[in-house]
Amino acid sequence: MLGYLQSPMTEPLELVFDRLTPQGLAAADLPEPSSRTALAWGVLPGERARVFPLRRQKGTLFCRVDRILDPSPDRVPPREPHYLSCSPWQVMNYPAQVRAKRAILEQLFPEVPLAKFLEAETVWGYRNKLEFSFTEDEGRLRLAFHERGSALRKVPLPEGCRLACEAMNAAALEVVERLAERGIGAVALKTLVVRGSTATGEVIAGLYVMDEHFAACDLALERSAGFSVIYSDPLSPASVATKVLFQRGAQQLTERVLGLDLAFPLEGFFQNHAEVFPLAVEEIRCHTPQCGRLVELYSGVGSIGLALADRAREILAIESSETAVAFAEENRRRAGVENYHPKVARAESCAEELLAGADVVVVDPPRAGLHPKLVAALGRIRPPRILYLSCNPANQAHDVALLRPVYRPVSLTGFDFYPQTPHLESLVVLDRTEPPT
Ligand SMILES: C[S@@+](CC[C@H](N)C(=O)[O-])C[C@H]1O[C@@H](n2cnc3c(N)ncnc32)[C@H](O)[C@@H]1O
Repeated sequence: MLGYLQSPMTEPLELVFDRLTPQGLAAADLPEPSSRTALAWGVLPGERARVFPLRRQKGTLFCRVDRILDPSPDRVPPREPHYLSCSPWQVMNYPAQVRAKRAILEQLFPEVPLAKFLEAETVWGYRNKLEFSFTEDEGRLRLAFHERGSALRKVPLPEGCRLACEAMNAAALEVVERLAERGIGAVALKTLVVRGSTATGEVIAGLYVMDEHFAACDLALERSAGFSVIYSDPLSPASVATKVLFQRGAQQLTERVLGLDLAFPLEGFFQNHAEVFPLAVEEIRCHTPQCGRLVELYSGVGSIGLALADRAREILAIESSETAVAFAEENRRRAGVENYHPKVARAESCAEELLAGADVVVVDPPRAGLHPKLVAALGRIRPPRILYLSCNPANQAHDVALLRPVYRPVSLTGFDFYPQTPHLESLVVLDRTEPPT
């Protein structure tokens, strides 16, 4: 049960925060007799801070930081006033971020030594996709992010966001300028999705509007190689397309990963951080033995599986999005790879059939982790090796525990796809301990 406090702003607390949770919030134990833990973004371990309680959930009190009373030596000034919305670790220097991410992995996987944690060299401007909301600030239309933890309150972004490259910010700000010139207010607009390619330097943008008869579609834009306007039913979640109203120019981008050109669409998934993602693919290659049949689940546009083509006689790639599979097929054709077979299916349906005869299985699920039906099928079919890449190591650790004792984690590697944020990517290699009965 979520309990909002009656008067959240009246009673500040002064607490010493002594640790980080695996989600990256600072945690402090509340004084006796309370058995609660206070959690806050924007506070570092070792800091004494004044915080305001916002809401409680079971034994946890979520707080908003008001003042840091004793700053940590790892504290640095945030680069953006809206940092809590996009990247709450902006207040931590980069070496401390890396130490904290290593510690999170070591805490989640105590039985497997962390082989390495591959840091990012580019720690700003690395995101290839940003989804902005809109607001009005002193009568001016502005890009915005939601305040962390609030569905309603928004923070204006007069200069965009430093996690995106300059070209993406310039393209987004140009869209806002053109909309403002046409007298469009925030009320008609839902979101602006902007994507960039490091390989080509191109940016494409998609404007999601709440009016099916939106009139200001044909904006004069010089900063985007492609632009679309998409009606999104006001009752559906942000950036879900109901009907495409307008399209001009490029509707897809191409990124280069380990020598492969990979095309992907405005709305589809593509891995973040063009510099660190290839390191993860290299690591997966290193742990993939030469084999007969490799099954890749949650395969997207083929960013990982196509790079493994020389490791297997044949690769079956399973992905639920029809669009992603169409792009994977096109990427396969462009790369001249013959033994990669992308197929539209849900990884958990017919999992036993899909996994039959697999020597190696590569999984890269969304944040929720593996579907329980898939975990059960892996436990029954028992392919000799599983390579599990995850953007949510806490859920990955849960899945790895479920696969015990049939599988033993033999290697753990971390990657910093998301500097300035507590998010990280991890690769666990699992080897079968017991053959199927
Ligand atoms: C984290 S992304 C990984 C994509 C790909 N491995 C890559 O590196 O680009 C997860 C992918 O799983 C797909 N997906 C989500 N649920 C799925 C399911 N139940 N079965 C198969 N694919 C699914 C998503 O569409 C998305 O492309």
